[in-house]
Amino acid sequence: MSNTFDDKVVAVTGGAGNLGRAVAHAFARRGAHIALLDLSEPAIQSVIDEQLPSGTETRAFAVDLLKPESVIATLQAVIDHFGRIDILANIAGGFTMGPTIQDTEDRDWDFMMNLNARSVLYTCRAALPNMLENGWGRIINVSARAALQPKGRMGPYCASKAAVKTLTESIAAETKFDGITVNCILPGTIDTPQNREAMPDADHSQWVPPESLADVVLFLASDAARCVTGAAIPIYGKS
Ligand SMILES: NC(=O)c1ccc[n+]([C@@H]2O[C@H](COP(=O)([O-])OP(=O)(O)OC[C@H]3O[C@@H](n4cnc5c(N)ncnc54)[C@H](OP(=O)(O)O)[C@@H]3O)[C@@H](O)[C@H]2O)c1
Repeated sequence: MSNTFDDKVVAVTGGAGNLGRAVAHAFARRGAHIALLDLSEPAIQSVIDEQLPSGTETRAFAVDLLKPESVIATLQAVIDHFGRIDILANIAGGFTMGPTIQDTEDRDWDFMMNLNARSVLYTCRAALPNMLENGWGRIINVSARAALQPKGRMGPYCASKAAVKTLTESIAAETKFDGITVNCILPGTIDTPQNREAMPDADHSQWVPPESLADVVLFLASDAARCVTGAAIPIYGKS
């Protein structure tokens, strides 16, 4: 895949995180302009300072994805600056282990559902009018293996990632005649410093490198995947 995204405008949420950073690098290497969205401006700036390839423009947009007005204003700021949003990569999200369901509190449920599912609703809702106007768009969401293979003590997380998958399918159904594709990836455990610290004795070689996930995100955004919409792609590595 070489320079397939010349001058495309990509908004990457969670752009300062492990996978967001890998996705931003991969798109920038192929000529895209990138809007990096995350909570902390300095954290985003440090990604930009990691020498994203020259010739592409990368800009930081600090935003709390759980504040609907801020999401709308930020995506509008991206459109004002770059002219449009071609590709929305919804990478932001998170994980918490919890107690069993009988001890799960409202705030545990709300935290996972908001961070993982509501954030995707907000960004899709804000970006879609521009994509519909342009008659072209790509949305790639991040669900998780846990959406298909839920485990105990992580009910809110599994439910939130299942919601991302279902929302993806629903938006895909709504936009299939509009030049827009909407898909999600379902990572297994990602090989991140945080996971290595939390699970030092696991076989890290079985985990999925962020760069491998980024390759699939780019495929879904590419012309090669123009007929793929509503897909949920498992990416489990060797685990
Ligand atoms: N890591 C895994 O093993 C794994 C497995 C399956 C699926 N996933 C999913 O893959 C995606 C990326 O994972 P990752 O490991 O790259 O996560 P990560 O490194 O924690 O990156 C997530 C980024 O999102 C940001 N963020 C959190 N809340 C936000 C908010 N309200 N508004 C704006 N930005 C916010 C975080 O900022 P702060 O750091 O400041 O909070 C962080 O920079 C997530 O959707 C995750 O659920 C991960």
